[in-house]
Parts: sequence; C-alpha cells; structure tokens
Amino acid sequence: MGAGHTRSHVDEHAPVLAAEALEGLALEAGGYYVDATFGRGGHTALILQALGREGRLLALDRDPQAIAAGHQRFADEVRLTLAHASFADLGTLVPANADHRDCRGVLFDLGVSSPQLDDPQRGFSFRADGPLDMRMDPTHGEPVAAWLARAGVDEIRQVIATFGEERFARRVAQAIVAARRTHPLTRTGELAAVVAGAVRTREPGKHPATRTFQALRMFINDELGQLERGLSSALEVLTPGGRLVVLSFHSLEDRTVKRFMQRESEVDAVYRRLPVVPASAQPRLKLIGRKTRPGEAELARNPRARSALLRVAERLA
Ligand SMILES: C[S@@+](CC[C@H](N)C(=O)[O-])C[C@H]1O[C@@H](n2cnc3c(N)ncnc32)[C@H](O)[C@@H]1O
Repeated sequence: MGAGHTRSHVDEHAPVLAAEALEGLALEAGGYYVDATFGRGGHTALILQALGREGRLLALDRDPQAIAAGHQRFADEVRLTLAHASFADLGTLVPANADHRDCRGVLFDLGVSSPQLDDPQRGFSFRADGPLDMRMDPTHGEPVAAWLARAGVDEIRQVIATFGEERFARRVAQAIVAARRTHPLTRTGELAAVVAGAVRTREPGKHPATRTFQALRMFINDELGQLERGLSSALEVLTPGGRLVVLSFHSLEDRTVKRFMQRESEVDAVYRRLPVVPASAQPRLKLIGRKTRPGEAELARNPRARSALLRVAERLA
C-alpha cells in the first residue's frame, strides 16, 4: 500500500454504468441473479439493494483477493453466495446454487478491477514497478515473466499484434528477446522500459507499453476464450425472459460480445430461407436497446469508465 493511501481507497472499485446495468437486468425482487465478475462488489451491492428478502445473488471472481474482500464486506448478507471461480464454469455453478430457482439475469463487468491495477504486486501496471505476473488468479497458470522467458519471437509478436492490436509488434517482440539475452525480464518496470525503447507512442497521453501490457494480460488470462465460454454458459443457464448484461472495455472484448449477441439473436443461417424454422434453429436471444456508453458526468467522476460499453439481451423461450 503506497504512502498516503488509506486501505479503503486502494481497495475500492467504482462500478461503471451502474444504473444502466441495473436497468438492463430488469430486477425482480425475488429473483435469482449472477454477478459473474464480483471485483469489489460495486454492482453486487446495488443488486442486493434492489432485491427483496427472497432474492438471491451468486457472485463469482477468479481472483481470490476479490472473494476474500467480498466475504469481509458482505459478512452478514445471507442472500449472497460468493465463489472463487471462473465465469467459464457458470454452467455448473448456477444450477448448483439455484436452490430450485430460475436464473433471471447474469451481469459481466469485464477486465481488471481498480485494486488489481493499483497494486504493483499484481504486475498489471507499467506505471508502478512490480513482479511481472498479471494473472487474475495467481493460484493457476504461470506469470507473464515465465512465458516471456521461453516464448519464441514469433509467438510474442503474434500475441502482441492480436491482443494489443500493436502495429509494431515485431519490433517489440525483437526488443524483448534481445533484452532477455542479457537478463531475465521479471519486473513490470523492466518490460515497460524495453517497450518504450523499441516504439514511440502514437496515442497522446498513452504510455508506449499500453498495448503490449494489454496484450500480455489478455493472453496470460485467456480473456477472450473465457468470455466466449462465459457468454455461452450464461445463455444455457438463463430462464426465458432472463437478462444478459455485459460491460466491455475495449474493442476486442466488445467485438466478441457483439458477435455473440448478434449470432444468437438471428435464425441459424442454414434455415434462414426456409418457410419453417425448427425450434433448435430459432434465435435464443433478443437484443434490448442499443449499446450504451457513460455520459459526461460519469466520465468526469470516473476516468476508468472511458471506454466502457454496455450491451443487453434477453433470453428467449
Ligand atoms: C471490472 S472488475 C469488476 C468490478 C465490479 N463490477 C465492481 O463493481 O466492483 C472485473 C473483475 O472480473 C474478474 N474476472 C475477470 N475474468 C474473470 C473470469 N473469467 N471469471 C471470473 N472472474 C473474472 C476480475 O478478477 C475482476 O475482479
């Protein structure tokens, strides 16, 4: 914890598009809902406020620190079940905690939380030096440093180009491989300096390593793979009329969400021209409203809402 920071400051995450996300969930007081990305419980707290005594909420996070903080914050909350789990496993977790209830809504608030970004020990930040880790769940997988120590230049290039949409991915990859010949890259500060030495930023106000860090984070956490599996399993567990609400923070995430919702809200392409469409090829989702972005007031209050985009869909029978 840095000097001048109180615990609560470091440990907070301001929920983004909170009113809009809640409206998207169309909460029923006695319903069973899922917060697939608990973080620090910003959205969870608002959902619980809107639920009645009979309502239930299952909240997941793959970060054990998030779940530990949640147990403290909501120690007396009997309507809430917290689970250290990945949202790719919603398909088993939601029925297991349903207690004979139908799931009426699932909320995804993607990406990393403020406490994850702000704690240099987690290794997400190029601004504060820390171990080069970037795992949301440090109990699984390997830190970025371990992968960067053995990956080939082409693999590194491909990850940075694909998940960072970095035009100069080859240059960055070559610089990383050249640097590791003299010493292993184990700190975020070292990596940020290597990237800054290889490319200049083209985007005002952005550190040259922004895209590389985003790419490595998405890769090491398999974020797009998780998202695909999370969305599919949410669709499986939602009851007809139930809502799927997704907040994304960059174009690759939003593209995945948009394509998924589009695909599921249309008749299966094979049957589109036939007079009769079998039930199995009918759309499973109905799009609700248009995509929503934060307004000026929220952006002034919370700069991290900058790139947020909200999409809502409803499960069809
Ligand atoms: C933007 S934060 C959520 C903040 C939360 N809505 C709040 O208001 O406090 C995203 C959270 O999702 C978690 N997360 C990301 N991918 C996940 C996954 N595949 N399964 C479960 N949790 C995940 C991260 O660990 C992080 O805590």
